[in-house]
Amino acid sequence: MYSYSKNTAQVVVVSNRGAYTFQEGHDQVIPRRTVGGLVAAVEPVLTAHGGTWISWCGRLDHSKEQGVKLGIPPGEPRYQIQEVFLTPEEHDHYYHGFCNAILWPLCHQLPERCSFEKAYWEAYRRVNQKFARITLEAKKEIYWIHDFHLALVPQLLRQQSPGAAIAFFWHIPFPPADLFQILPWGRQIIYGLLGSDLIAFHTSRYVENFLDTMSCYYPARIYPEQGLIRFRNRKILVQALPVGINYHRFEQLATDPAVRARAAEIRKSLGAEKVLLGIDRMDYTKGIPERIRAMACFLEKYPEYRGRVTLLQIAVPSRNGIGEYGILKQEVERIVGEVNGRYDQMYGAVPVRYRYQSLDQAELVAHYLAADVLLVTALRDGLNLVAKEFVASRIDGKGVLILSPFAGAAQELHGALLANPFEPAHLAAKIKMALEMSFQEQKSRLESLRRTVKSRDVRWWWQTNLKLVKSLGSGISPAAINAANL
Ligand code: UDP
Ligand code: G6P
Repeated sequence: MYSYSKNTAQVVVVSNRGAYTFQEGHDQVIPRRTVGGLVAAVEPVLTAHGGTWISWCGRLDHSKEQGVKLGIPPGEPRYQIQEVFLTPEEHDHYYHGFCNAILWPLCHQLPERCSFEKAYWEAYRRVNQKFARITLEAKKEIYWIHDFHLALVPQLLRQQSPGAAIAFFWHIPFPPADLFQILPWGRQIIYGLLGSDLIAFHTSRYVENFLDTMSCYYPARIYPEQGLIRFRNRKILVQALPVGINYHRFEQLATDPAVRARAAEIRKSLGAEKVLLGIDRMDYTKGIPERIRAMACFLEKYPEYRGRVTLLQIAVPSRNGIGEYGILKQEVERIVGEVNGRYDQMYGAVPVRYRYQSLDQAELVAHYLAADVLLVTALRDGLNLVAKEFVASRIDGKGVLILSPFAGAAQELHGALLANPFEPAHLAAKIKMALEMSFQEQKSRLESLRRTVKSRDVRWWWQTNLKLVKSLGSGISPAAINAANL
């Protein structure tokens, strides 16, 4: 765990999803952990600093805006969660609607999946106003707003509190301008974000896309070298700051004898000479059906591997109330059945092993250690932390990462094998290459990957975000902050 830093200002974190959902218990709420990249990135900040996390905790209520304020983790509180309630209508129109049936598919470049309903936009505005009202009550030095659910919040805060320090992190891809402009309310989203002092993305490509889009709607002076824009007499930093992981925690778990024993157990239970692994939320952006089809193509093209290699796919339940996610689950289960029906040899390794569940961190690392190859073959992904966690866990220099060029992490993780998830034969060839890669090559690729992941860990990420937003008030140049050894 990172230590508390007295130099860091008091921060209030605001996001739609927090680290816990709350369920009604007998006389108190029961917190349950949630899974996702945003939570993995933000929780270490609050665990280290203390502070407040304003988030929706899965409960719906007509009559009140705010629910409980709870110390987290339960029993050993290090920060507070302030629960925000959604009404059932907001849940449908804001969360399922504007967030997951418009912004999510649009930003992942899948406009055919969008439903541009005006009622969704209206609910989105209302919920953003609600979050802004609750946030203003917290009265902290820095407001740190997260992700596409709350793009209007920065401007709403700015109107009420012109001198506030406001940072925003956009966790998903930011699409090219001509795609973003399909959104009938695109201008309002951009204006909402421009209330921030710092708008950060995972990659420089998303920064470029954002700046192009902004220029289509608003005149602003752009200083690309400094990552700075001037908009209506305000300076706004626009930066690429990819989220990092708690590197030491993953390294530590990977040396833990209990975790290593569990990895050996998983490996043995699979009964395969070689293990390919996929770990993703069950989401259509992650390319799970495409990956399983590529596995079929691999076994078809290279029959010598039948009965020797297993693809273990862990799919974490996600967004269950949304029809498309249920359809995806059925599709994945059908394809798993088909591929196993076709390529199972009745002895040796089963082609695809599939589990629909979520793992805790120790169990995750045990899986990372049990595999020979990790397949991160998203059709589109903001970054992908699983790829970084695998790299940090492979302390023995063995293991190959196959990475989609359409995941933000590909801009950073240069030692990975890049493979196009849309082309099964190409992915199959990369799987073969990974399985046959010499130990020397695996080691040298991993060494370079590990250096990158270690140098830009989660501590680097949040310290840089917070120092940059403070630099605007203090007059320290962003370049000096970037150059400083944090
Ligand atoms: N994760 C987890 N349990 C699981 C699978 C994933 O805790 O069973 C975590 C994983 O450690 C990672 C995050 O969920 O930190 C997923 O983040 P990623 O960026 O890979 O994808 P996202 O879910 O945000 O799209
Ligand atoms: C991605 C998004 C997060 C989101 C997570 C899980 O990582 O960037 O904002 O929290 O998916 O999705 P959910 O809809 O369950 O919050």
